[in-house]
Amino acid sequence: MILDYRKASDSDLDICADIRGATRDNPIDKATLIKFGVTTEIWSPKMENGTYIGVVAEDKGEVIAYCYGNTQTGEVLVLAVLPEYEGHGVGKKLLFMVVKCLLSQSLTELWLAAGANSTIRAYGFYRHVGWSPTGTFDDNGDEILRYKKI
Ligand SMILES: CC(C)(COP(=O)(O)OP(=O)(O)OC[C@H]1O[C@@H](n2cnc3c(N)ncnc32)[C@H](O)[C@@H]1OP(=O)(O)O)[C@@H](O)C(=O)NCCC(=O)NCCS
Repeated sequence: MILDYRKASDSDLDICADIRGATRDNPIDKATLIKFGVTTEIWSPKMENGTYIGVVAEDKGEVIAYCYGNTQTGEVLVLAVLPEYEGHGVGKKLLFMVVKCLLSQSLTELWLAAGANSTIRAYGFYRHVGWSPTGTFDDNGDEILRYKKI
């Protein structure tokens, strides 16, 4: 599978929200994203000032997966791959690109919140690619995992 990877821009935010609503595990619809403050109005200025950075994967010009991170807090904000593209290394590559970018700032430790249900793909995925559970949970019941710069 040959895909293109590039930096995300403002104009990708809408399609990224659609993708988040179409994942096999844990889909989050647009209404819920808006409730969490994930809107173009809120994210766009943060991307412009460099607080949020993102990368997308494209298949023949169509965005099929994406990942964003917060350069101030070290949080990986979101990672999502459309079901038909799972299992081809896309999630790992996008996560690696965002991790590399965040670690090139002055951050030494990154974190993210992920579903604590061991039957979902993300549970084993993050552990497999080097993230460690902290044993702590956020207000939504998601588990906090961390990644330390080696
Ligand atoms: C979780 C998700 C991002 C994984 O993306 P993906 O592209 O299918 O994963 P990859 O193909 O890049 O997998 C990378 C590696 O992790 C491994 N892996 C993936 N899921 C795994 C699991 N559940 N257990 C163990 N290893 C796993 C793969 O075998 C692969 O290993 P390798 O590099 O040694 O060959 C994707 O399934 C997804 O978008 N899920 C829905 C949304 C979601 O839950 N996002 C996370 C919210 S915080």
